Amino acid sequence: MAEQNAPSATFCYFRGARFPSPPVSPQGLELVESFGVRDDDVFVSAFRKSGTTWTQQIVSLVTTGSNISEVSRIPLGKRVPWLERAGLHADAPPIISQLKDSPSPRLMKTHLPYNMLPKQAREGKGKIVYCARNPKDVAVSLYNMRQINDMLQLLTWEEALHDFLSEPPANLWWNVIPEYWCHKDDDNLLFIKYEDMKKDLRGHVVKIAEFLGRSLTEEQIDEVTANCTFAAMKENQATNVSRDPLIQEKMLKRGKEKGIEFVRKGQVGDWRNWFSPQQLETFEAFHREKMAETDLTFEDEE
Ligand code: A3P
Repeated sequence: MAEQNAPSATFCYFRGARFPSPPVSPQGLELVESFGVRDDDVFVSAFRKSGTTWTQQIVSLVTTGSNISEVSRIPLGKRVPWLERAGLHADAPPIISQLKDSPSPRLMKTHLPYNMLPKQAREGKGKIVYCARNPKDVAVSLYNMRQINDMLQLLTWEEALHDFLSEPPANLWWNVIPEYWCHKDDDNLLFIKYEDMKKDLRGHVVKIAEFLGRSLTEEQIDEVTANCTFAAMKENQATNVSRDPLIQEKMLKRGKEKGIEFVRKGQVGDWRNWFSPQQLETFEAFHREKMAETDLTFEDEE
């Protein structure tokens, strides 16, 4: 029997950018620009499927300092809520309205392009940890996400790749990531790459801690690192929503049937298993043209 697409795979548009809605809240997006940023706010920002969850987990555990392994078991969405997300229950205000009353330090995740971040963050208030990943593996990870998330439109690999390359300009990877890269030397932004984290996780725990002004002991660094490995995050239902029975029942039934999890493969170069020679040629030509003006590069082999 043919698989059914989710009837709820709908979008909202904001300043030319396209967002899946739900879960993104159009009302929430309106409030982002004027969001009152505090000095100790931390934004974990990344393009979808680029290591957002991984970076959230590191930032959260580095910031907590004590009870690291205990905190690691608290659902990540509670520790680092999604800035532009709708409220978790029908009629609840968008997350951004609820954040106004949250105690400091507030940790927040976002997939927004740089130019849509809160104005005060763009002016240097708070800190932004940005994680980028090579676009071929992002495309593969996005495709697999469609296979597991009942809210997303189910596409073939060919269709998903086409969708990724033809997103509206405001969402397009080749516009969004170079824009963040232009801010890599800003005092309040740390630009990291998924591929570099794979090579040296502990080194990135240290780098992120230093950027956030946290001095951790060697033991604390080890404990954060141990809770941020791929194996630990896959096994932990606070970071791998596919292991959370409630969330699985609500939106990941499709993934359960297919045996694909949210924390899936975690490799650099998985694209080799998906791209045909023709797809690779088209993709590389597109990439070369779009990246001609930037010195940003990615290693895409492990
Ligand atoms: P794959 O689908 O290639 O496995 P995001 O959090 O932005 O949605 O990114 C999800 C991607 O990050 C998935 O990639 C997921 O498996 C990977 N990931 C999550 N935790 C990871 C970890 N600790 N180490 C390496 N990759 C991780």
